[in-house]
Amino acid sequence: HSSNVTQTLIDLVNKLQKACTTLGDFGDHESSLPTLWDALPTIAVVGGQSSGKSSVLECVVGKDFLPRGSGIVTRRPLVLQLHTIEQGSEYAEFAHLPRKQFTDFDDVRQEIADETDRETGLTKQISSIPIYLSIYSPNVVNLTLIDLPGLTKVAVEGQSDSVVQDIENMVRSYIEKPNCIILAVSPANQDLATSDAIKISREADPKGERTFGVLTKIDLMDKGTDAVEILEGRAYRLNFPWIGVVNRSQADINQSVDMITARRKEREYFANTLEYSHLANRMGSEHLGKVLSEHLESVIKSRIPGLQSLISQNIIDLETELSRLGRPIAADAGHLHLALIICSRAGGEKVYGVFDNQLPAALK
Ligand code: GDP
Ligand code: NA
Ligand code: MG
Repeated sequence: HSSNVTQTLIDLVNKLQKACTTLGDFGDHESSLPTLWDALPTIAVVGGQSSGKSSVLECVVGKDFLPRGSGIVTRRPLVLQLHTIEQGSEYAEFAHLPRKQFTDFDDVRQEIADETDRETGLTKQISSIPIYLSIYSPNVVNLTLIDLPGLTKVAVEGQSDSVVQDIENMVRSYIEKPNCIILAVSPANQDLATSDAIKISREADPKGERTFGVLTKIDLMDKGTDAVEILEGRAYRLNFPWIGVVNRSQADINQSVDMITARRKEREYFANTLEYSHLANRMGSEHLGKVLSEHLESVIKSRIPGLQSLISQNIIDLETELSRLGRPIAADAGHLHLALIICSRAGGEKVYGVFDNQLPAALK
């Protein structure tokens, strides 16, 4: 259960990230803004191709909106920001289509696919240029998640020979940042010793301080085998307990099985399977979502002092940047400015008290 202060901070971090994204489009690479972006916590989903990364991410969000399937479907990073809204119906917005509100999530999925193709052509090429998507809903927790192309072993038709290495480098560039919480996705129907997720996350986070092991496809294991050794942490020990999930199968996707039904089936699976019933209360997508938002909260809390000094330093740079751009402060830039002020207040240090009367009542 999160306190109001913490919730405000998480909101704030989301606003900062959104504003940084918006400004990043206008700024140049020498701008100090990426530094601020780098300091904020994010969650990235990594693993082998078709291990179930996009499915896991959808479950955490509780919405169907991502292209999924066998083969290389995710070909650009997707930076997804979830924003809790008090009331009203949910909608989505892309950074590349700032004035368009999507209310049909099938259209969101189509736009992700189209925008991927716009950058890469209709090939199986990948691109490291992210797609930025925000979802506003009363039914989401405040989180920023990144869906990444899957790690592979060989290039397929239509891909350059360097694709294997390119994907690895791209994934590494996200997960090596100390602020990145890694969701390492391994499928239970493959040997854990061959897991790309474990391999690359161990490199980036040797002590496992920010890695969560997620085991997918438990329902697809060979008859007579089970994942108990892994889920109890005896096969491969991680700092945080493993979380097993059962996502929708391709047949479920083809038959448009909805999220609520899928979650109910998943709960039933763990509760009613003899091997897993003793673990049922710490398995499944809902549990994963809860664990992640709690962890994010504690990370943000511990980061407040560091964020504050970075912000004090960035506030000057930001103002310089805005005046250099020589344009009126756009809504989002104003938002950022406001967020910076609130953040600098969060630890009790009033840097810009003069702006107090601009704070929304809820944040005072
Ligand atoms: P990604 O390539 O890692 O993003 O994987 P996707 O989420 O696109 O999933 C790849 C395929 O595996 C899809 O057809 C999914 O339906 C299927 N899949 C993913 N997770 C599970 C699971 O837990 N159980 C079953 N039966 N199928 C799954
Ligand atoms: Na896939
Ligand atoms: Mg995917």
